[in-house]
Amino acid sequence: MAFGSFEYFDKSISAPGVRLDEPAHRAPRHILSANQFTIDDVDDFCHLADDFEAGFVPTQLNRRAVALLFFQSSTRTRLGFEAATVALGAHAIGMDDMSASRSNAKIGETLEDCAAVISRLCDAIVVRHHEPGAAARMASTADAPVINAGDGWNEHPTQALIDIYALRRGLGSLRGKSLAFGGDPRGRVVRSLMQLLRFEGPREIVFCPPDKYDIPADVLSAIAEFQIPHRRISNIDRALIECDAIMMAPYDMSAIGEPGSSNYVAPHETPEAYTITPEKIERTRSTALLYHPLPRFDEIAPGCDRLPNAMYFEQVRLSKFMRMAVLHRLLTR
Ligand code: CP
Repeated sequence: MAFGSFEYFDKSISAPGVRLDEPAHRAPRHILSANQFTIDDVDDFCHLADDFEAGFVPTQLNRRAVALLFFQSSTRTRLGFEAATVALGAHAIGMDDMSASRSNAKIGETLEDCAAVISRLCDAIVVRHHEPGAAARMASTADAPVINAGDGWNEHPTQALIDIYALRRGLGSLRGKSLAFGGDPRGRVVRSLMQLLRFEGPREIVFCPPDKYDIPADVLSAIAEFQIPHRRISNIDRALIECDAIMMAPYDMSAIGEPGSSNYVAPHETPEAYTITPEKIERTRSTALLYHPLPRFDEIAPGCDRLPNAMYFEQVRLSKFMRMAVLHRLLTR
C-alpha cells in the first residue's frame, strides 16, 4: 500500500508477556519525513513510548542489528538510538568515523550502494548526513528500513516525534495552546515539527527569530495549509509572557548543512532580546515551558535548568522511549 511516496506494510506485534496494544493500522517501512505520519502513527508511537517508559519488556529482538551511520556529528540522536537499540535487546553496529567508510568523499561509493550493502548486514539503518534527501536515496536501494536521523537542512522526523511527545507530556495537550519558536527558524527540526502540529490543534504559533531571518516559505505555507494562526515577535519576553511553551533553537543552525569533515563553526552569539535567562523568567513571572532539541549555546542560560519551566532535559529522557517505539515498530512490522 502506498502512502504518499512511502511504502506501508502490514504489521503485527506478537510479544508474549508484553502489553503492547496492536496498532490498528500499518507501520511505516522507512521514516524519511514527518509529513508521512498520520495522526494514528503519532498516537501509536506515543502510546508505545509510554509502554516502554512504564517498563514493559519488548519483543525479543536479540538477533537484530541496527546500523548507525552518522556522517555528521551527533550526541543525542546517535547515542539515543544506540541506547534504544540496547534497551530493546538488539545490537547497534556502525562506524565511529564514517570518513573511514568507502562512502567518503575520496573513495566516493554512492549512498545507494552503501545502503544496498549495509541493509543486507543489518535489520535497520539510522542515517545522518549533511545532504537533503540522503536518507531517501538510501531508502531507494535499502533492503531494510531506513530512518532519517537528520538530512542537512531538510528534516529530522524522529526529533519531531520526540518534541510532540514531550510537549504533550508537559502541556497535557497542545490543543488551544500558544507555541513559540525561538532562534534560527530555518532548521530541520522546525520543518519537521511543523508537519506534526497539524494534528495537535494549537491556538497559534509565535515566531521569535533574530531579525536577520525570514521564516522559510515552506514552513509558512505548511502553517497556512494547516490553518494555524501565526505571528512574529521581536523580543523573547513576549513569548515568555504570552505563550504556553517555547521551542528554542540556536541562533544560527548553518552547521547542519556542512559535511562531517567540515571545520565550519556557526556563530553562536545570540542577541540579548532573544535569550532566555532566569532573571527574565522571574521578571515576567513566566510559566511557559522551555523545550530545546539541543545542543544549546547561549540562547538558554544554564541558570534556567533548575527552574520548573525547563523541560529540555526531560525531553532527552523521553527521547529514548520514543526511539524505542520507532525502532520496535520498524523491526517488528
Ligand atoms: N537534537 C539533536 O539532533 O541532537 P544531536 O545533533 O546531538 O543528535
